Amino acid sequence: MKVVQGLSPDVAHGFAVPPCAYGARSRATTRDLKANPDLAAQLQGGTAQPCATSGLAVSLLALALSSSPLAAQKNPFARDAESASAGRTTYLERCAVCHGQDATGSMAINLLRSRTVARGTDSALFQIISKGFPGTEMPPQPDLAPEKVWQLVTYLHSRARPGLQPPLPGDAEVGRQVFESAGCANCHRVGGDGGFFGPPLDSIAARKTSEQIRRDVLEPNVDIPEGYRQVTVTPRKGDRITGLEKNSDTFSVQLLMRDGKYRLISRDEIVRLEPQDVSPMTSGYAETLSPKQLGDLFAYLDRQRDSFIPVRSSFGNY
Ligand code: HEC
Ligand code: HEC
Repeated sequence: MKVVQGLSPDVAHGFAVPPCAYGARSRATTRDLKANPDLAAQLQGGTAQPCATSGLAVSLLALALSSSPLAAQKNPFARDAESASAGRTTYLERCAVCHGQDATGSMAINLLRSRTVARGTDSALFQIISKGFPGTEMPPQPDLAPEKVWQLVTYLHSRARPGLQPPLPGDAEVGRQVFESAGCANCHRVGGDGGFFGPPLDSIAARKTSEQIRRDVLEPNVDIPEGYRQVTVTPRKGDRITGLEKNSDTFSVQLLMRDGKYRLISRDEIVRLEPQDVSPMTSGYAETLSPKQLGDLFAYLDRQRDSFIPVRSSFGNY
């Protein structure tokens, strides 16, 4: 029998088999199977036993899901690209009229800024979508199958939480080579290797959406993060120097130079200090790299989301 935890067998029909071959673990997602081709092959080849979850266990799970808002349920389709896309279809049919085409709000609130969507548990969002808010305009969805509700959760999380976006297509290993050969690694660190001039990119895809990362690489001047703005210093003696201003105080200015070295200049020595609008990052990658190289590079950057950083607690509800 094919079962997805939290879903009754009929709605789970057609979805991935839980990896009972894993022993105690009994939650399977299409992603688990993608991440573990061995298991998928075993299950397909019939060498691993699919879960013999009893009907009773399934109905208990279904009951727990429907009766307790505290039920610790995880989204079985988290980060699954097909589920996110199916969720978007349902979203457009049932939710867009109030929350806007792109979920940023129209008659009802911006869902990307909702505390529940941005920070709440999977199950809390599941409950709200299926039950609505009695006494408000937010309707219940009694006819929506649990799998469709989870798809909505996947879609909303992929919009509001960068780290839960489905993985981008492309060859991340080739992308890693592009990262080195195109010189990105001279300025950026990933996993302890690389330069110090630009921000570390270890968890970039946990902090930013793939669209933002794309823009950072192709149009570096658009959004320059705090601490990475260039300044040009004209000293009393000698040549003008351009670098990133770091740790300056009333007496001195400290510049990080491209070679990774710091220069400390006393304020007495400075005639002019001009902040620059141009990013210190190399530009023109849209021309120097092929579309295939860029696709693989973005896939590589997209995988840098291991240390998931939760959305800031100052996030407002509305
Ligand atoms: C008829 C308009 C309407 C429709 C349709 C609708 N909503 Fe809502 N929704 C609202 C309103 C109004 C609220 C705010 C309720 C309140 O006063 O707290 C809300 C609140 C929410 C919240 C809680 C946000 C928070 O942080 O409090 C979520 C999540 C949500 N809606 C998701 C959805 C989804 C997903 C769908 C589609 C299945 C949907 N809504 C369909 C009107 C609607
Ligand atoms: C000359 C050094 C340099 C090179 C080469 C360089 N970058 Fe950058 N990069 C920076 C600096 C400095 C910033 C911060 C300023 C900005 O965003 O414009 C930055 C910002 C970024 C950001 C946004 C980081 C964040 O935390 O918001 C990304 C993503 C990025 N670079 C990727 C790349 C990739 C991919 C390449 C190679 C194709 C590359 N960079 C090449 C210096 C560099």
